[in-house]
Amino acid sequence: MAEKFYITTPIYYPSGKFHIGTAYTTALANTIKKYKKARGYETYLLTGMDEHGQKIEQVAQKNGKTPQEHVDEMAEAAQKLWELMEIENDDFIRTTQPRHERVVAEIFDRLMEQGDIYKSEYEGWYCMPCETYFTETQLVDGKCPDCGREVKKMKEEAYFFNMKKYAGRLIQFYNDNPNFILPESRKNELFNNFLKPGLEDLCVSRTSFDWGVKVKKDPKHVVYVWLDALTNYITALGYLSDDDSLMKKYWPADLHIVGKDIIRFHGIYWPIFLMALDLPLPKQIYAHGFIMMKDGKMSKSKGNVIYPEPLIERYGLDAFQYFLLREMSFGQDGTFTPEGFVDRFNFDLCNDLGNLLNRTIGMINKYFAGEIKQYPEKCSDIDKELEQFANGVITQVEEYFDTYHISNAVAETWNLVARTNKYIDETTPWILAKEDRKEELQSVMYHLVENLRKIAILIKPYMTHTSEKIFAQLSIPEELQTWDSLKEYDKIKNITVTQTPEVLFARLDPEVEQEAIKEMMKV
Ligand code: MSP
Repeated sequence: MAEKFYITTPIYYPSGKFHIGTAYTTALANTIKKYKKARGYETYLLTGMDEHGQKIEQVAQKNGKTPQEHVDEMAEAAQKLWELMEIENDDFIRTTQPRHERVVAEIFDRLMEQGDIYKSEYEGWYCMPCETYFTETQLVDGKCPDCGREVKKMKEEAYFFNMKKYAGRLIQFYNDNPNFILPESRKNELFNNFLKPGLEDLCVSRTSFDWGVKVKKDPKHVVYVWLDALTNYITALGYLSDDDSLMKKYWPADLHIVGKDIIRFHGIYWPIFLMALDLPLPKQIYAHGFIMMKDGKMSKSKGNVIYPEPLIERYGLDAFQYFLLREMSFGQDGTFTPEGFVDRFNFDLCNDLGNLLNRTIGMINKYFAGEIKQYPEKCSDIDKELEQFANGVITQVEEYFDTYHISNAVAETWNLVARTNKYIDETTPWILAKEDRKEELQSVMYHLVENLRKIAILIKPYMTHTSEKIFAQLSIPEELQTWDSLKEYDKIKNITVTQTPEVLFARLDPEVEQEAIKEMMKV
């Protein structure tokens, strides 16, 4: 039976239009899902919306809408974006759906009954945008330690979750599972800054607003948004519902993808909630970095926000995803600049990959009427060395994908693109043709096609259209388009490449396009 792989994105706040940061998180999860699928896993990708809370209530009010009207509109827009980005999510959970709300109320009830949640009074500094209370000492210069905004002193009757009870078990779990949180630096941060000094009990209900899941036995209280939101990962699978077959099949999650700003909720509170529910913990949580702009964080007031739609429309989905995945190193922040985007497009996609395909097809047509017969009987040392190089790249790429170092996987694939271009310069096919060294020339053409086939397989999880175009132009049979066929190098037989090669990426005029992208940021 196939192994399963359950991967999730955070569920997004419907507070505004999604920018490329949100798109990145989802593209990353989708890429990993598609890779796992190509490796034979039975995959399940969950995404959705985090629709409760005071902030949403306020945004709706500002737009003259009811919260429900507002979140309905936003959910539709989100799904449209995921369609545009061809995200292969298996479900789309919304925290306002009855299937979710019912279970959240029940979970709360249960935790109360078993004594993990107790009633008390809360007084503290509240950050409205983060919907989080802080103690005096946690504040930074009297402001929210997470977002730096103003906080307000508030006091309310509230329910608390007994975090202290589970802290020891969580510390033990961290010690037993050193790769639970990736990258390691984030784990150390959580461990040293939160777990080691001792956990505070967590306030898990609010009375200051209404837009949320009501506590069953005390309905003037609304369940804290993070307790509500985190449970989406199990409510979507049917936890505590009549049909919990997905829960049985897919839980525990193999990977939660989150941004570094929300790792504390996923790395500390979520595992503890799960312990209290007596459920297994997720296998891994990966915290990625932020997409920054030249002048810092994206923000509407700075006028430096860039949205995915116009970029995809003008440059295509593949180029957009290539840029994001390549530019964002494992766990680190990356920067979006119009110059960087246009350079990657022109150098990596147009010059390196596009030209490699075009030159290859052109030469096969010119020298062999478009035909590749079979693996050559005799290979040169350079041919053999190229085969070894390709094998090395494949092993590396797999390792990078398996450890979620996606930008390294992309970069490593481009090493193969570069090496293959260099192979043309080394073997000088035009001289072989002139000197009528047919056999050698045939071998060179075979190896070029073979490497392009491998490249097309390696990029398929994030550049599906380009991959398909390469297969089609080279007329690679289906059985040689699979991940399993990657390590074969001598199986191509009797193919005829296209006579009219299509340009994969047409060169951009840097000045014109940088201006165009800057215009996109003004909207
Ligand atoms: N609703 C919560 C998540 C609940 S999960 C149980 C939330 N939503 S969010 O919409 O504010 O953010 C969703 C994700 O987008 C987070 O992982 C966040 O890190 C990510 N990003 C927001 N801005 C980003 C960038 N500029 N760059 C990369 N990711 C960014 O938090």
